[in-house]
Amino acid sequence: MDGNRRPEDMVRISTPELAEKFIQEQIAEVRRQVGSRKVLLALSGGVDSSVVAALLLKAIGDQLVCVHVNHGLMRKGESEAVVTLFRDQLGANLIYVDASDRFLDKLRGVADPETKRKIIGGEFIRVFEEEARKLTGIEFLAQGTIYPDIIESHGVKAHHNVGGLPEDLRFELVEPVKLLFKDEVRVVGTALGLPKAMVYRQPFPGPGLGVRCTGAITRDRLAALRESDAILREEFERAGLEGKVWQYFTVVPDYRSTGVRDGKRVFDWPVIIRAVNTVDAMSATVPELDWAVLRKITDRILNEVPGVCRVLYDLSPKGPATIEWE
Ligand code: XMP
Repeated sequence: MDGNRRPEDMVRISTPELAEKFIQEQIAEVRRQVGSRKVLLALSGGVDSSVVAALLLKAIGDQLVCVHVNHGLMRKGESEAVVTLFRDQLGANLIYVDASDRFLDKLRGVADPETKRKIIGGEFIRVFEEEARKLTGIEFLAQGTIYPDIIESHGVKAHHNVGGLPEDLRFELVEPVKLLFKDEVRVVGTALGLPKAMVYRQPFPGPGLGVRCTGAITRDRLAALRESDAILREEFERAGLEGKVWQYFTVVPDYRSTGVRDGKRVFDWPVIIRAVNTVDAMSATVPELDWAVLRKITDRILNEVPGVCRVLYDLSPKGPATIEWE
């Protein structure tokens, strides 16, 4: 049987009971595969790698070594949340690597979107490889591959999966959720006791804020992006829009316009609000947001984020516009 093909008669995991059964089966399977050996996992904090981490922690405890690479393009508080949950609360063996400077130095002056993605993806593999080499006696690599990654040739996850490790650093793969669809992964994550905010988190691209800080990334513009994005998420949550709008974030383009502040002319960035609803991310519509919510977000961004003098709402559906700006 092809281990990468979902059996026709496989029951859709839609209830806590079915999730529990799946978890017990996978615990047994992972223990059988791994024995007393060690497993390495790149833990980004996304839904899939988080569910795999929680599952493996149950199955093999401290035989699991998680590596969280902060590439400097994470959202506000995101890396801290991963460390707090997995290391402090769940007791995982977690190596935290702050590689922010390294990534931002490599990206300095690079404006082409594809080159930026390549640098981020390539650097990620190198940082992960360095960490893997420091550890000895690891034979397995766990991945949060899910079924759409296998069946979709254009799988968006390719960008942050740890493919491309050198020949002498090849591991046997452990992929406990590879036959599951996203909704099933979430049911399993909930049954494993992961927080709702993590299990129902909106998609976040592998290159992170890098694709939303358009053109050549600078630290000050990245800071404006991170702060404005945090404000947007906070206000969406406050307005009860969390979980109702599929994906929302801010973009700070590499472009300035004039403004006036304290009686003086300034030349500052715009912040663009992007919010979309979609079923499969192949096409998307823009929700009609309440004016008061938009105004509150605008006021807060203009008052709290340095270097910003305008806030815009992107009304473009996909297509022709993509969801991300780069
Ligand atoms: P676009 O911009 O192509 O995005 O309409 C569709 C969905 O994919 C996400 N996305 C990515 N995810 N690595 C990822 O893991 C990437 O490089 C990437 N680019 C886009 C995007 O956030 C949206 O949900």
